[in-house]
Amino acid sequence: MRRVYMDANATTPLLPEVMEAMRPYWMDHFGNASSIHLHGQQAHTAVNRARETMAEFFNCHEAEVVFNSGGTEGDNTAIFGLLHPGDHFITTSIEHSAILEAAKRVAQKGVETTFVAPQPSGLIDPMDIRRAIRPATRLISVMLANNETGVLQPVEEIGKIAAETGIFFHIDAVQGAGKVEFDMRRFGCHLLSISAHKMHGPKGVGALFVRRGTPIEPLLVGGSHERRQRAGTENVPGIVGLAKAAELAMHSLADGTPGGGTIDRLARMRDWLEEGILQIPGTGVNGARDGDKVVPRVANTTNIWFDQLEGEALVIALDLKGVSISGGSACHSGATEPSHVLMAMGLDKTRARASLRFSLLKTATGADIDHVLQVVPQAVEHLRALQPVAAGTLG
Ligand SMILES: Cc1ncc(COP(=O)(O)O)c(C=O)c1O
Repeated sequence: MRRVYMDANATTPLLPEVMEAMRPYWMDHFGNASSIHLHGQQAHTAVNRARETMAEFFNCHEAEVVFNSGGTEGDNTAIFGLLHPGDHFITTSIEHSAILEAAKRVAQKGVETTFVAPQPSGLIDPMDIRRAIRPATRLISVMLANNETGVLQPVEEIGKIAAETGIFFHIDAVQGAGKVEFDMRRFGCHLLSISAHKMHGPKGVGALFVRRGTPIEPLLVGGSHERRQRAGTENVPGIVGLAKAAELAMHSLADGTPGGGTIDRLARMRDWLEEGILQIPGTGVNGARDGDKVVPRVANTTNIWFDQLEGEALVIALDLKGVSISGGSACHSGATEPSHVLMAMGLDKTRARASLRFSLLKTATGADIDHVLQVVPQAVEHLRALQPVAAGTLG
């Protein structure tokens, strides 16, 4: 049976070039980057080279790149490292749990958080961020791209508000990395987290951009690694893999004339998939339009509701037919609650439960789309025939 993976926002496979770049650092060049002998120097040089690549990727200074274990650590570091009792924190109700749970933790220490809700389109209105600011506000954290809908938030405008008001600004850019061009000065952020495994790199490694002069307390203390910003022996193969994935992502973002590059190809495939699925009656896209306007989204993601069925039943039915996709966020798999993102956008529980995320790998092919477009309508029809009408409403 043909197998199609359309859950890139949960994780991605390594690209072969990433695997090849990492390979020597598992066994031949296994040194500790802090050791002074040759083995140590080999590892140290590899980490330095990776840092140069990441500085290019972020468009920042090398001293502003801190390697870590991924998105969760970057998000936690921003919150735990900057906020003190009595501070006020502004974030949104559609963030990843790495932000939401960290906000809960600092609440116990006397940090109050305002959760700004999105518009029904999934977009955060920068004016709502501005209105939430208080004299005690120390940090604003807004994601670049939502993991469930792919909606791209107006981070540049929020960055300007943060700059005008002298508030620190963190961006969870885990789902934007490799899909949109990064520029730390343009974004106006002090901190930005990314994770390698969402961009065809290895799991358990990532980077945090920390603008020079940002008074962040490290989450982990011990050795003097990463300029004392993140203690722990560097994951050299992981760091090399992250940098290779970032290098490939930079090429794919700049690989051709408008309309001809990898990202444009991906957007065309996503649109083809979306249009095909929307032929099924009782379906619609979450986070695609704001009245007459098209909402900006990352190229690989679409989130679709299917009336008259349970999303989880469709995930299982599609899995049996060779298609891997997610309902809600894969990071919460097993949870029976409907997606907090879709609920915050104003969907009712039934529709939120009947929504699925299709997220394409960069390596997706036309044959993958064909297969999914063949399988989804059959599975939907089959499930709807089995379900009582009460599961949802058509139209
Ligand atoms: C938006 C967002 N932030 C943070 C994370 C956590 O990243 P990691 O898996 O590297 O800890 C994820 C993972 O799904 C995510 O989608």
